[in-house]
Amino acid sequence: MKILIHPSAQKAVDCVADLLAARLRNDPASVLGLATGGTMEAVYARLIAAHRAGQASFARATSFNLDEYVGLAPDHAGSYWRYMRQHLFDQVDIDPSRAHLPRGDAADPEAEAARYEAAIVAAGDIGFQLLGLGANGHIGFNEPTSSLASLTRIKTLTRSTREANARYYDRPEDVPHLAITMGIGTIMRAQEVVLLAYGAAKSRAVAALIEGPISAACPASILQMHRRATVVIDEAAAADLTLRAYYDEVHPKGGPAAI
Ligand code: GLP
Repeated sequence: MKILIHPSAQKAVDCVADLLAARLRNDPASVLGLATGGTMEAVYARLIAAHRAGQASFARATSFNLDEYVGLAPDHAGSYWRYMRQHLFDQVDIDPSRAHLPRGDAADPEAEAARYEAAIVAAGDIGFQLLGLGANGHIGFNEPTSSLASLTRIKTLTRSTREANARYYDRPEDVPHLAITMGIGTIMRAQEVVLLAYGAAKSRAVAALIEGPISAACPASILQMHRRATVVIDEAAAADLTLRAYYDEVHPKGGPAAI
């Protein structure tokens, strides 16, 4: 696992956006796994800027988002479809027919989850998977105790996750209780995974992810088993790491390997 600790959240954001832009330049027809949440808003802002500067084209890319709330139609203000259109899709050259999210309003959500998993497989699986991190260690909406081998399916959100996402809704009780999420097994099939976390609220989950036991209690810890996983964090999110000096020695200030 590559651990890149940047001096600021903005530098961590820039690093992740630059990794994704470089992937698109190297492989314009990449299959991207995309994430939502507050963490990613700044990443998408930088990617839009890179696109406008001619440094990133999504024209030949395919994307699959990690998750969507059950019950929300794509035009619902709290849906991840709406989030993605607002923060990325409407402002870059991605082909909307190749930008995928699960349909939260599907009549049969379980069938929709199976369809989504099959579509990812049919696309040849994810090439570059972007991940955020829940304060409880979740990735996508794979809450603690998720099967580490799970495929795309319905998950019940924890109270803490609903509370963390309540800011996107008029009333806390409007936050959906269920989501369709890529499974941990789905995510683990990606060729390359890049996880971004910043801020003190993520420091305990970051330590569990990087240095804790591999456990469904911290779903992100399964990334220790991925052959090409990069964790990009800022100083605040690094606060609970025990082997901090080693990470700094290998990648000073989150930069290229020193040795
Ligand atoms: C959300 C999303 C995740 C995201 C995480 C962190 O619930 N389903 O994909 O990574 O929680 O969100 P934030 O970036 O807002 O802290």
